[in-house]
Amino acid sequence: MTVAMNDLDSINPATREFLQATHHNYINGHWHPAASGKTLAVQDPATGETVAHVADSDAADVNVAVAAARQAFESHSWRTMKPALRERLLHRLADLMEANTAVLAELESIDNGKSAAIAGAVDIACAIDCVRFMAGMPSKLNGSTLKPSAPFLPDTELFAWANHVPIGVVGAIIPWNFPTLLFCWKLAPALAAGCSIVIKPAEETPLTALFMAQLIEEAGFPAGIVNVITGYGHTAGAAISSHPGIDKVTFTGSTEVGRLILQAATGNLKKVTLELGGKSPAIVMPDADLDIAIPGAASGIFFNHGQVCTAGSRLYVHRSIFDKVVDGVADIARNMKVGPGLDPTTELGPLVSRTQQERVCAYIAAGMEGGAEILAGGTIPDSSGFFVNPTVFVNTSHDMSIVREEIFGPVLVAMPFDDIEEVVGQANDTRFGLAASIWSRDISLVHKLAPRLRAGTVWVNCHNVIDAALPFGGFKESGWGRENGMDAVKAFTETQTTVIAL
Ligand code: NAI
Ligand code: MG
Repeated sequence: MTVAMNDLDSINPATREFLQATHHNYINGHWHPAASGKTLAVQDPATGETVAHVADSDAADVNVAVAAARQAFESHSWRTMKPALRERLLHRLADLMEANTAVLAELESIDNGKSAAIAGAVDIACAIDCVRFMAGMPSKLNGSTLKPSAPFLPDTELFAWANHVPIGVVGAIIPWNFPTLLFCWKLAPALAAGCSIVIKPAEETPLTALFMAQLIEEAGFPAGIVNVITGYGHTAGAAISSHPGIDKVTFTGSTEVGRLILQAATGNLKKVTLELGGKSPAIVMPDADLDIAIPGAASGIFFNHGQVCTAGSRLYVHRSIFDKVVDGVADIARNMKVGPGLDPTTELGPLVSRTQQERVCAYIAAGMEGGAEILAGGTIPDSSGFFVNPTVFVNTSHDMSIVREEIFGPVLVAMPFDDIEEVVGQANDTRFGLAASIWSRDISLVHKLAPRLRAGTVWVNCHNVIDAALPFGGFKESGWGRENGMDAVKAFTETQTTVIAL
């Protein structure tokens, strides 16, 4: 099968104008090339062609950005800005994102490969929602009054309170699978808490972060509060995670790099939040409504081409309905329209990079060598882009790499089970613990099963439902801390206790 090329002639003039512009880092309210003068090329995954160049930054650029963020954090204009004004700035940013949804969605598509239509309806819509949710926080971030007894001060009356004060300068390192959304997951709660921030998008997908920087400038945030630096992980990323001037680093990406971030953070003991990999189980019980469960399981793995940390990549189906469910999912896989992201009829776009395509293909080959059977896909279409056809494996076992490791591509492994004890054991037999889904109509079974799954989020009759209001993060090697929800803002604060001897 041959896949059509992306039609760059069809894009919005504003998208084209942005692509053709020269791209610099956004530091202290100004646009600067990397100090070294180096740039890195940005590819369209649907064609493999270079569409832009951005700064290839290193420690020198990070140093300047951190100094700017520190100065801005300490500045009167930000420290004493009234909560309502901080909220208004965040809402202004959300308004600008709304007005520029089409451009953000097209840039995301050209940068990452995903469908522009889906990016607009999901990624950008959820990113705006996140900014608005967090915009409501500054005026609600209250502390508490405390009642100390201090028996060693029998004659002194005490009054005390605890307050949530901003943690300081934040370093954010984000991946390429949801570039705009994850940019906002880091940015919005950090700004709501009163921090300043240095953000580095992934080297594969820097464009929307730079476009967001333009909107941030237009919204009128004080200079230095938000700094966006593009570059590679081992240079710019490592400089952020080890920087003594950064108080907290928040990272989303691979478990392997999560460990490096943690090690780098030991220098100044900066606080760390990590959102890492997953190998999430989807469990279909014998009583499930299969009209919902079959398409649900398929979209659980194939949404965003499987490049989702919560992808339902392990499907456990009760033996009595195994063939029906797995054939249904394989049928959906075979019929998905694989194509470039700018084509509105595309259901599955290319993976983000040649490296990712090769990685996923190596897993598929390992699965076949290990004796697993392919029901759908397992091939790549004829294209210069980084496509992989949606793939369904059966006859798999828990010692295979395709069952144990995060593939981060459109590859599902399906296994039958006979009873609850067996499926609980299988679902939890992983070093990850990000998410899980249960497909059942038995409410009491759901209540008993959900808490036994060692996962940060358990979905019932749905998968990948992620929202600004819902705490999100991982058990086990899937990470540290939670994003979204009320607590996401507190994760960018320190609790400060004040005690007065009256
Ligand atoms: P990665 O973890 O290397 O990249 C994520 C971010 O970390 C990027 O901004 C990158 O520049 C940065 N980074 C890389 N090395 C760094 C270092 N030494 N210090 C500081 N920052 C560094 O992920 P990669 O290599 O793009 O993908 C590999 C695998 O990671 C994927 O196949 C997938 O399994 C997993 N992954 C998981 C994600 C998630 O959402 N949890 C997102 C992206 C990848
Ligand atoms: Mg990497």
